[in-house]
Amino acid sequence: MKIHTTIESIRAARGDSGIVAFVPTMGNLHEGHIKLMREAGENADSVIASIFVNRLQFGPSEDFAKYPRTLETDCEKLEAAGVTHLFAPSEKVMYPEPQHFHVDPAPAQVSILEGECRPGHFRGVATVVLKLLNIVRPNSVLFGKKDYQQLIVLRNMVRELALPIEVLPGETVRAPDGLALSSRNGYLSPDERAEAPRLHKHLLIIRDAVRGGDHDFLKLETDALAALEAVGWKPDYFAVRRRADLQPPVQEDDPLVVLGAARLGRTRLIDNIEI
Ligand code: PAF
Repeated sequence: MKIHTTIESIRAARGDSGIVAFVPTMGNLHEGHIKLMREAGENADSVIASIFVNRLQFGPSEDFAKYPRTLETDCEKLEAAGVTHLFAPSEKVMYPEPQHFHVDPAPAQVSILEGECRPGHFRGVATVVLKLLNIVRPNSVLFGKKDYQQLIVLRNMVRELALPIEVLPGETVRAPDGLALSSRNGYLSPDERAEAPRLHKHLLIIRDAVRGGDHDFLKLETDALAALEAVGWKPDYFAVRRRADLQPPVQEDDPLVVLGAARLGRTRLIDNIEI
């Protein structure tokens, strides 16, 4: 695997790479990322990954400074997963001057769920992803379903801006106890780690109830919120939504997803399951 730190270098490498699948990341890679890399390689000549901790998508009280930077071990994992090129730019390369132009996703998409809890987050994500796509010019780009709203926002961005790029979703990878793999799991204390799968458990309870014909979504959501609160979590939301746009369901046959976000100690966890 070749590591590129400049735009010129990754562009030159991309030129010789045939059909390219691209997996943007912020590093601190886990099995979820690695599965995306492997899937990326299935229908492409080359896989390009990026590692860049994007300041623009962190709120003022979020963990930008302490976000784990683990480039050396990340490179070993990427190499083993068959990644051909890694773009790992510095902040100076990505933002040589303050970023004045931004991508503003539709308010209906960013005023809900994660967008409501993290104002400006998706604007920062969309801006850096458009920039990365312009730099790498891949044929396809992969995003994990673990960040479901991010996947929807970015899929819409690619469609609305007519980028000639296929957006491919990757399934969430879970620990044996159900906890979705996430870089933020590393912040959990041993006790919190043992408690953390409870978020997934309540998503399963809601999924099974809806599958069983219970359509009182509000009650299911508030029951789950209360259950987490009762054992010391600070939940932000549980929400049964349409998969297509994450708005509340209106028709019986809308494909659905249930999403949840909650703080356990100082760590904020998110997860979702398609119903
Ligand atoms: O999902 C992530 O790791 C980030 O939001 C992304 C897509 C790499 C943009 O910084």
